[in-house]
Amino acid sequence: TGLVTVDPGFMNTASCDSEITYIDGDAGILRYRGYPIEQLAEKSSFLEVAYLLIHGELPTQAEGDAFMERVNRHTLVHEDFRTFMGTFPRNGHPMAVMSSAVNALSTFYPESLDPFDPQTVELATVLILAKTRTITSYLHRSAVGEPLLYPDYSRGYVEDFLRMTFAVPYQQYEPDPTTVAVLDQLLILHADHEQNCSTSTVRMVGSSHANLYASVAAGINALSGPLHGGANEAVLKMLTEIKADGGDASAFMTRVKNKDQGVRLMGFGHRVYKNYDPRAAIVKKSAHAVLEKLGKPDPLLDIAMNLEEIALNDDYFTERKLYPNVDFYTGLIYKALGFSDQMFTPLFALGRMPGWIAQWREMMTDPTTKIGRPRQIYTGAVERNYLPVESR
Ligand code: CMC
Repeated sequence: TGLVTVDPGFMNTASCDSEITYIDGDAGILRYRGYPIEQLAEKSSFLEVAYLLIHGELPTQAEGDAFMERVNRHTLVHEDFRTFMGTFPRNGHPMAVMSSAVNALSTFYPESLDPFDPQTVELATVLILAKTRTITSYLHRSAVGEPLLYPDYSRGYVEDFLRMTFAVPYQQYEPDPTTVAVLDQLLILHADHEQNCSTSTVRMVGSSHANLYASVAAGINALSGPLHGGANEAVLKMLTEIKADGGDASAFMTRVKNKDQGVRLMGFGHRVYKNYDPRAAIVKKSAHAVLEKLGKPDPLLDIAMNLEEIALNDDYFTERKLYPNVDFYTGLIYKALGFSDQMFTPLFALGRMPGWIAQWREMMTDPTTKIGRPRQIYTGAVERNYLPVESR
């Protein structure tokens, strides 16, 4: 213990070995189980990627169908669970409802809590993937005052999520293929990112042998912060404020560079990527395509592109290697698809679910795992004697 050194933000501390996700931050490379993110984003589907992350291999047709069938079968939530979600105040942030709801799932499925029984863990895995889809639909519908819809087992994961979110009750829902494809892709891009703040939180909580629901709920809370998943909502707020102030991107950038009131260019910078975030490159292309296809030009996209253009040619950003991250353009797409700002981070959480689950499962089956328990360097008072209150 005499050799303990402090590593703020764990910039240089590896907390585990992992076979799940590979990042080369200097080269802008991201791979899930060896597959480049660009290929998965173009060719795969979210559920297939979930299977890949969790089970280590792409599923065969039969394995994929069985997995989808299992997830679909669990998308309906218990009526008491729906009532429970309805008890939160209307104007509370959906991320708080989401983490509470995922935590509360453990009380509805006590048979799925043993972290060391493979069958139980598989059940909890499927339950979480299924229920979080329904929970996320609920978050949107309760915000707009509409009832939660029942799942349609004949539809795919993303298509039925969109139907449950946006369908008008009692009217036939026709999925828009562009919308389904782009959301599928966004969920894939968010599905894992090795030992980031929320994933490390999931592992830390799980290292005490807390169940999967408790661990993932903690991850949702870690994700909610504006330096992490909450950045996608913060970007939209920033763009909206710049527009309201007359749309002057360079005036805002001057404030960022002067660190005026600590203002940051949200959606920029990354602990690991010191080159363009490969996810941001894909999202940027999709943002243009989607806004064009849906016929919804958004002046905020022009402001975002202006900010990026300035940043890529400015010493402040290039010297610090600050490039757009995944959160910079996603909000514009979610907005075009019809989601409110407060739904952006829950959508990130929905996408990250397979990664959290895969990382938790990897940790639980790794014989070298020990409870997470960092040390500290004590800098407080030396020993002193208690003083009665009248002598203080
Ligand atoms: N705008 C302006 N300056 C920045 C930014 C930014 N977005 N990010 C970092 N810097 C500056 C920072 O002020 C510091 O400057 P100096 O050397 O003069 O003190 C330098 O760059 C290094 O920053 P850091 O805060 O030490 O870097 P970090 O690795 O601890 O933080 C980060 C990484 C992502 C938290 C940070 O870049 C940030 O706050 N970005 C904005 C929030 C954001 O977009 N978060 C999403 C991250 S990606 C996906 C996700 O996790 O959700």
